[in-house]
Amino acid sequence: MKILTVVGARPQFVKACMLSRKLRSQSIIKEVIVHTGQHYNHNMSDAFFSQLALPKPDHNLGIGSDKQGKQTARMLSKIEEVLLSERPDIVLVYGDTNSTLAGSLAASKHHIPVAHVEAGLRSFNKKMPEEINRVLTDHMSTLLFCPTQTAVENLEKEGIRNEVYMTGDIMYDAILHYKSIALHQSNICARLNIKPKNYYLVTVHRAENTDDPHRLRTLLKVLTQLNENIVFPLHPRTKQRIKHWNLLDLLSSKNIKVIEPINYFDMLTVESHAKAILTDSGGVQKEAYMLRTPCITLRDETEWIETVQAGWNHVTGVSDSQTILDVVRKTIVPKAYPNLFGNGDTSETIYKILCKKTGKH
Ligand code: UD1
Repeated sequence: MKILTVVGARPQFVKACMLSRKLRSQSIIKEVIVHTGQHYNHNMSDAFFSQLALPKPDHNLGIGSDKQGKQTARMLSKIEEVLLSERPDIVLVYGDTNSTLAGSLAASKHHIPVAHVEAGLRSFNKKMPEEINRVLTDHMSTLLFCPTQTAVENLEKEGIRNEVYMTGDIMYDAILHYKSIALHQSNICARLNIKPKNYYLVTVHRAENTDDPHRLRTLLKVLTQLNENIVFPLHPRTKQRIKHWNLLDLLSSKNIKVIEPINYFDMLTVESHAKAILTDSGGVQKEAYMLRTPCITLRDETEWIETVQAGWNHVTGVSDSQTILDVVRKTIVPKAYPNLFGNGDTSETIYKILCKKTGKH
């Protein structure tokens, strides 16, 4: 059996690494990797491939940045060409990016079954491109691998009940495998001159925050007013928008360390040691929980409601900086730590299900 994996953005490299390793450790299934090129800078792409030992992509489509529709359309057309030459039995997609949608749509049009890892997530906010990507991908998928029970229930409410598997979260596999290696190898704390539990980590990249000047200004004001050490790896989109909206002066406070996007080991290290994490990322919210660091989510809603119910994540909205500051200052480390994301054997579980589909196991 041949599986064609489509990846393109930073979080997908992390999600794909453990399952890809599993697939390559045996001979029943052959994996072909397609990189759409949605993320292309060294530190947004190549650095992840080398650190996570992901094999070099068999096809690199080099699509790069563009408007939502054009980027997705260009991916769709190029993935279709690859599908026609490779003729895979299954197309494997991860998460909710434009690469996910393009991969699943191209496969569906050619009646190739789609397997979706991280199926069933919903923010119920259709203004997010990611929400559109998730809903459409789930409705095109044959095999749906859900990280949480909430995700299974979301699919059920939309009438998707067949071949839905509650597998746990594949990012937890990566954390268990890489956390101690990362803490051992990374020297980011020395480089930045930061001490454990003496700084906040901040990430912002979602279009809903970066493309709205009021929201972006509100978030940057929080960083200035918090008056604590802040580590802020700047996503390329956010950097562009800060310049575009003339907000650079809000990053000039001495307490804010603005740095380039960092690799996975550095990221796990600064996430582990932060006093708390402020983020609009889906993956970082989860990683915060998996590393037992409290999280403040700079959005109006979250797909990871279990982390909120457990008291480890606080959704602030982005209407005014004072509300966010009040939440940040009150944040504590909860005592209870329920198991929300499985046992770290998600790639093994998914692998076994895929093997069953070959009829040989
Ligand atoms: C994408 C995903 C989002 C995911 C995120 C992780 C979509 C719609 N969004 O958003 O779900 O959480 O990745 O980071 O698919 N850029 C560079 N260099 C790079 C990569 C991007 O300069 O290596 C710039 C581009 O100029 C562009 C923006 O960053 O303006 C990228 O936009 P997009 O492709 O939508 O990706 P993300 O914003 O990262």
